Amino acid sequence: MRSARLTILAISNPPMKILVTGAAGRLGSVVCRRLHDAGHEVRATDRTRDPSLPVPVIVADLTMREVAYPLVEGMEGIIHLGNIPDAHRTDAQTTYTVNTAANIHLFQAAAESGVRRIVFASSVQAVSGTRTLADDVPSVLPHLPLDGAIPACPGNTYGLSKQAGEDALAFYARTHQLHAVALRFPWLISRARIEHIFQRGNGTSVDPDKAAYSRPDEGLSFLAFDDAAALAEAALLRAPAGYRCFMPAHPRGRLHGLRPGEIARRYFPGVPHKRDLDALGSLFHLDEIEQVLGWRPGNPE
Ligand SMILES: NC(=O)c1ccc[n+]([C@@H]2O[C@H](COP(=O)([O-])OP(=O)(O)OC[C@H]3O[C@@H](n4cnc5c(N)ncnc54)[C@H](O)[C@@H]3O)[C@@H](O)[C@H]2O)c1
Repeated sequence: MRSARLTILAISNPPMKILVTGAAGRLGSVVCRRLHDAGHEVRATDRTRDPSLPVPVIVADLTMREVAYPLVEGMEGIIHLGNIPDAHRTDAQTTYTVNTAANIHLFQAAAESGVRRIVFASSVQAVSGTRTLADDVPSVLPHLPLDGAIPACPGNTYGLSKQAGEDALAFYARTHQLHAVALRFPWLISRARIEHIFQRGNGTSVDPDKAAYSRPDEGLSFLAFDDAAALAEAALLRAPAGYRCFMPAHPRGRLHGLRPGEIARRYFPGVPHKRDLDALGSLFHLDEIEQVLGWRPGNPE
């Protein structure tokens, strides 16, 4: 049964024909179910199958140029998630070449075929490199809080492939008048895991001894899969013409019980603050996403 919220969304936004790449993946499966429940016509594709999805998955490898054209044919929008999702799955060269090939094949075919709306899953790793909080290496961040205007400065070829994907999308938005959005997702996790993180450290803490949590590129914030899926949908339906880049996050991405201003002072010394971080309550500035797309993460506590 559909929720009241989804019903309202479906009425205010007429159903669209939407291609979802990476549909069998962790985020893709959540996105597919959400769009299907909202009444959209979903075409799902991936390199692998997922029989549990409400729509069949068209099995295709986007590194092959010719597969992209039939996939985008007749579509009004694309949510492009089909990439190698981090720097550790394979070697550096393969990560870069697979992702950039998939991205350019899909974007070029979409532009030629008249698809006007594209959302691309970029990553916080396009920005933050692989510096860890324990490093003495100075941060590359030009300012805090983080937002979509931070220039890319990746520290591995996964982040480099996301930077190239953002550049390619901006290029097609400019040359083909697209409504195009790159979403620099942080570490995506289940809502149950977020609750566990907050419970474990007196309600506010993330364990700094755990490497996965102590990396600024993944650990200073995170986002629930369902919030990320809701954002991808909002970006596809509501983005204005042109190219936009956003940097979403859970609004309470704290570390070891520290307030955001203290995190910044300890781990990002010398990085200028554009806003009072403690008043903002976060190292991420989410207002622009809300203003442009009408999205905020749900259940922040
Ligand atoms: N999970 C995270 O923490 C996170 C954080 C930031 C960004 N992202 C991005 O979000 C997207 C989805 O991530 P996820 O966590 O669901 O990853 P995932 O690995 O679960 O899903 C990605 C899917 O893409 C498919 N895929 C990869 N290369 C492909 C290709 N060449 N052709 C067709 N399909 C291909 C895979 O088979 C997989 O099912 C990715 O683009 C990832 O880079 C994820």
